Amino acid sequence: MSDTPSTGDVRRAAAILRDGGLVAFPTETVYGLGAAARNAGAVARLYAVKGRPADHPVIVHLASAEDLGGWAAEIPPAATALATAFWPGPLTLVLRRGAGVPNAVTGGRETIGLRVPDQPLALALLRAFGDGIAAPSANRFGAVSPTTAAHVRESLGDDVDLILDGGPSSVGVESTIVDLSTPAAPLLLRAGGTPVEELAAVLGAVPQPDLGPARAPGMLAAHYAPRARVELCTDGAALTARAAALLSAGTPAVAAVLPSRTRATLPPELTVLARPRDTAAYARDLYALLRDADARGVSTLLVVPPDAAGIGLAVRDRLARAARSTGGDHA
Ligand code: TXA
Ligand code: MG
Repeated sequence: MSDTPSTGDVRRAAAILRDGGLVAFPTETVYGLGAAARNAGAVARLYAVKGRPADHPVIVHLASAEDLGGWAAEIPPAATALATAFWPGPLTLVLRRGAGVPNAVTGGRETIGLRVPDQPLALALLRAFGDGIAAPSANRFGAVSPTTAAHVRESLGDDVDLILDGGPSSVGVESTIVDLSTPAAPLLLRAGGTPVEELAAVLGAVPQPDLGPARAPGMLAAHYAPRARVELCTDGAALTARAAALLSAGTPAVAAVLPSRTRATLPPELTVLARPRDTAAYARDLYALLRDADARGVSTLLVVPPDAAGIGLAVRDRLARAARSTGGDHA
């Protein structure tokens, strides 16, 4: 649908969820593919459509932090503090799961990932549905996450019963995931839309990345990959040199993305896909840029990542994964 969804559309979407169907909906981070979280059959269909292994847990979306008690066994003080500070918003909390939470959403684990999204249509849907909605990003397993309704349609087509179109996602990268399920210090399982600096200000310490066996299984594999080979360049000079080498070797369809502030004297034959004006714009446009590279048949995408501050950490993380999984990273 191209018009702004109405109350009727939201009611219809909630009814589809109640019947065990799948509804794609906008969040501030990326579009989610939603199913009734307590309906094991619906969640099984969700996994089948995504092509996702059954032992990967899925985030359950809630209308409000007041609903946490229905899903978590206990709510540690740090969880209350983070929920108060950042919900609704791009932050997922991993907590010990409550009694009766189906294995389907936890991947059989003792923990559950929960978040309250900051997007009016998502919140309207959650309120109309009246319970938790399990929703991974609305792309096939291993592909680039969707930040528009058109991306969802391209990826999932008729496998989804309804797509609510809320326009482009405002943040553009997935939620930050913090594990509070153990007595140990909070762990950062995924950099994302909520900057770690802001988490640290609330927690009193910087959450450390999980260095043990990965607890967020979706993060193990190199995801977020376009077909184009993604190569990371440290600065404008490095990008210019690499572009010149590729072009003089006759490499077709070389393109670049670099921050507007990055100085570079680019070869005129180089296609510049974007020069994001700041890190927020870089994050917001990142996945659309990767899709654009593929749509244009780009063979090699040369990228200068943003600085690591704020949401830049998440953008750098996704670009590093894209480079790793497309062979553009020789590490
Ligand atoms: O921004 C987002 O988080 C988006 C929107 C739709 O909310 N969702 C999203 O879902 O990115 P997905 O399924 O693509 O990624 C969820 C990540 C996976 O890496 C998964 O392993 C991790 O969250 N996760 C979910 N529940 C977990 C749990 N109980 N323990 C550890 N990791 C968990
Ligand atoms: Mg995903």
